[in-house]
Amino acid sequence: MLFIIVALIAIALGYLKTNSNIRHRVFASLCNSLANPNDTKMMNLRCDEILDKSRINGNVLEIGAGTGINLHCLYNNTNIKSWIAIEPNPYMKHYIDDYISKLNIKFQTKVLQISATKMVDIQSDSIDTVIMTHVLCSIPDPLPREILLEAHRVLKPGGKFYIMEHTIADRNVKPNMNTFQLLIGPLWKIIGDGCEFKPIANYLDDMKHVYKSVIYQTFQAPVKLVIARDHIKGVLTK
Ligand SMILES: C[S@@+](CC[C@H](N)C(=O)[O-])C[C@H]1O[C@@H](n2cnc3c(N)ncnc32)[C@H](O)[C@@H]1O
Repeated sequence: MLFIIVALIAIALGYLKTNSNIRHRVFASLCNSLANPNDTKMMNLRCDEILDKSRINGNVLEIGAGTGINLHCLYNNTNIKSWIAIEPNPYMKHYIDDYISKLNIKFQTKVLQISATKMVDIQSDSIDTVIMTHVLCSIPDPLPREILLEAHRVLKPGGKFYIMEHTIADRNVKPNMNTFQLLIGPLWKIIGDGCEFKPIANYLDDMKHVYKSVIYQTFQAPVKLVIARDHIKGVLTK
């Protein structure tokens, strides 16, 4: 019996790995269950620490908006003029549209089904605030650098880029967790639609000669999944 269960799981994972359309669809549904607006601790982190009303204003660009979970932090922010979401996974769109109508959003909204590595529809120096949460783990190297450079291009001078990502545990501080994350990595990548445990701080350090300032700190997020608790949050200023 155990053999049959293991074989079925292996077949399902193999299918997910080779069929990107199904993987995107499954991942959209998974994101909708995991990024839950009723998860008070995570929503407090998103809304009160990362996307606080005093920080987010003007023309806002969200990279990798997923299901649109962050709209729960933005919908009643009267400082926002417009929200453009970059989201390449077509199966996220109806979740975003649902949130837009349920939250009765007053500012302009637009969803672009493109990659944030080339945001050709967004003019240079046109965005006041860029936001991005839990996205870089899904972007294969060397593309994270391209996304951070594109964000810099579209930001107005002085504009801010707020970021929160989960990251690989520090090998010197949490060696067991670091090893476990590396071991489970290939499976995590299939289920997480390309997501990997990565040293995200390296991408931010690489931007220190591009942005006027890059500030970040690592922390433990109150996520239920213990292996995804290591986080980093920061702000990049053009
Ligand atoms: C783990 S989800 C996070 C969604 C949401 N930001 C959140 O905090 O729950 C990562 C998102 O990044 C998107 N993504 C992947 N590659 C991308 C790219 N090249 N440009 C923009 N978004 C991308 C995925 O489609 C997915 O919706």
